[in-house]
Amino acid sequence: MKAIVLNEFGGPEVLRYQDVSVPRPAGGEVLLKVHSVSVNRTLDLVVRAGKYPVKIKMPHVLGVDPAGEIVGIGEGVDGFKNGDRVAVVSFMACRQCKQCLKGEEACCVASQHIGLHRWGGYADYVAVPAANAFKLPDAVSYAHGSVIVRHFPMAFNQLTSKANVKPGEWVLVMGATGALGNCCVQVAKMLGARVIAGAGADERVELAKSYGADFGINYRRQDLLTEVMNLTGNEGVDIICENISDPTLWPGAFNSLAINGTMVTAGAHGGGTVTLDMKRLYMRRLRIVGTAGTNVPDVYEALDAAGQGKIRAIIDRTMPLRDAAQAHRIVERNQIVGKVILDPTAR
Ligand SMILES: NC(=O)c1ccc[n+]([C@@H]2O[C@H](COP(=O)([O-])OP(=O)(O)OC[C@H]3O[C@@H](n4cnc5c(N)ncnc54)[C@H](OP(=O)(O)O)[C@@H]3O)[C@@H](O)[C@H]2O)c1
Ligand SMILES: [Zn+2]
Repeated sequence: MKAIVLNEFGGPEVLRYQDVSVPRPAGGEVLLKVHSVSVNRTLDLVVRAGKYPVKIKMPHVLGVDPAGEIVGIGEGVDGFKNGDRVAVVSFMACRQCKQCLKGEEACCVASQHIGLHRWGGYADYVAVPAANAFKLPDAVSYAHGSVIVRHFPMAFNQLTSKANVKPGEWVLVMGATGALGNCCVQVAKMLGARVIAGAGADERVELAKSYGADFGINYRRQDLLTEVMNLTGNEGVDIICENISDPTLWPGAFNSLAINGTMVTAGAHGGGTVTLDMKRLYMRRLRIVGTAGTNVPDVYEALDAAGQGKIRAIIDRTMPLRDAAQAHRIVERNQIVGKVILDPTAR
């Protein structure tokens, strides 16, 4: 089979389209004929550059979210048959740490990822643990499946399990056109919230409105707190999906929380170290909640919503797998809206 093989770290040119053996599914695994895999900034570009803080064993095949057709089944696998259409979640709990033994695998502190700790989906075929494969509803294409399982489960986790959003509540989504942010906008809207999209450019604010945000604020041009208070009748928002932790944006976001409000976060691209006003935290009875990893129930919720057409993946373009280096350059240049998908079946 063909795969994009990483033999050394470096620029996009180190991604080589090579012949490798088709993997055999071990016990508990399924073999997929890959139809799509997305290009992720952190888990593909940063890893390829050698800047991701996980030891990568060479040669390596990237690809954390392949979707495809099952064409082989290892021993002891129930519930799948050849021909099933599935998408893969990369998160593999260790099943040995204290959290895993308590049944809280989503909180595993020694988790590994398909595409990082074992070969991923930049290939014609990939073998994965059956527990990581999720059947796609008929209405969800492979490309959409890759994006749905990669980004929407966290949005569901933040808004349902962590913030318990209710219809009519105000939700502010920071970085509202990012891979996670656009999912938070869509899920909050689907669950009946009044959604304010925060983004760093007017055209990105408008883009977030095109997939459901009721209002938008350019937090690099406007004063976030003033605008939020104007929109919410001086109450503030019930929930903030923050996910940036930029020290310059943080105070405006934090101060925008309504009394009893909840801020959820799973990201710190903006730096991660911020100043926290503890008096405001307790006087306004606020909560800041962290989350990470992937919860299986959130994956089912995301696939179910996608199957019913309530949420959609935003895809910029699909390219043949052999053009992975070019795809990395396009994502690196940052001039795209939505995900770039690689399709090994497109020649
Ligand atoms: N994607 C997921 O499913 C997922 C899951 C778990 C955790 N996370 C974490 O969540 C965070 C966001 O991930 P993502 O995949 O949505 O990233 P992304 O697609 O790059 O989006 C991040 C957004 O944050 C905004 N931002 C503001 N200040 C920034 C800064 N200093 N640096 C970078 N972005 C900045 C940007 O919008 P503006 O320029 O408009 O401000 C951008 O749209 C990351 O820390 C990631 O590790 C993501
Ligand atoms: Zn564990």
